[in-house]
Amino acid sequence: MKHLNYGKIVLIGAGHVGSAILDSILRMNLADEIVVINRNEKKAQGVVLDASHTTAFAYSSNTNIRVGGFEECEDAQIIINTAGPSIQPGNSRDRMVLLQTNVEVMRETMKKIVSYTRDAILINVSNPMDILTYIAQHEFRYPMNKIFGTGTLLDTARFNKMLADICKVDAKNVTGFVMGEHGGTCFIPWNCVNIVGIPFSEFQSQFELEEPIDKEKLLHEVKVSGLDIVELKGYTSSGIALSVCRLVGAIMRNEKAVVPVSTVLDGEYGLAEVAMSMPCVISRNGIDRVLQLPLDEEGKKGLEHCYEYLHGIIGQIQ
Ligand code: LAC
Repeated sequence: MKHLNYGKIVLIGAGHVGSAILDSILRMNLADEIVVINRNEKKAQGVVLDASHTTAFAYSSNTNIRVGGFEECEDAQIIINTAGPSIQPGNSRDRMVLLQTNVEVMRETMKKIVSYTRDAILINVSNPMDILTYIAQHEFRYPMNKIFGTGTLLDTARFNKMLADICKVDAKNVTGFVMGEHGGTCFIPWNCVNIVGIPFSEFQSQFELEEPIDKEKLLHEVKVSGLDIVELKGYTSSGIALSVCRLVGAIMRNEKAVVPVSTVLDGEYGLAEVAMSMPCVISRNGIDRVLQLPLDEEGKKGLEHCYEYLHGIIGQIQ
């Protein structure tokens, strides 16, 4: 087994999302080496050649970017998977419509990855997020702390931005996680939402809001915003790319950052055998620990609903 090459990333998929991730990692100087794998190699060559020209500019380090094959996974520190089709405009607004196709794509991808490594930290970006993350970990015995999906990190970013706009503060001052499925059964533990310690229950008075925040309406807007963007621009890329960079940065800088990621439950809240987003501590080792927020009755109901739904989908997979 080759030693881990710290700073080396393998990026699987050179579509809209893969290209945006490549550009963002370069812009943030997060890697020394990025190898792009794509079924259509010509496309990968174009994406890589275009991105490579940015390293001539002052703000960019001289990152080595190239096209490669799965053998490059052997000494990779991080593998980012974006393989498979994404939701298309005008189609179903449910990421589960991608289920059977992308389960097969994930199985094909994982077969190649595990023939070279189970040491790289594997970040899944493909949808349906939680099901694919579960399949990749469970069927290929990938170490649980080394595989996770972007999950509701993107939903959390959207939620924090929406809440910040209502309260007229910086989104980076909002503490509030979206948990569960990156999809229709995600939920928000409102009792754990605050702005610099001011609890959600006091937002109307503290931020002088004309009316109380409609929780159901806000949660709905979070759930559909990705799908609305697909209808408007044909795909999403910027938000998911920066979500990936948040995770890559936490790994490369050993930050021990607390962020929501899709992880296979192993007894959290008494649940297992399903992947969904929980706040996790992310470091150079991957997931250091999964944190269990103190859910109130409403939060427990949301968790149970999400678990039952995802567990049911997993039961249908051939
Ligand atoms: C979105 C895709 C990544 O929500 O599922 O933008």
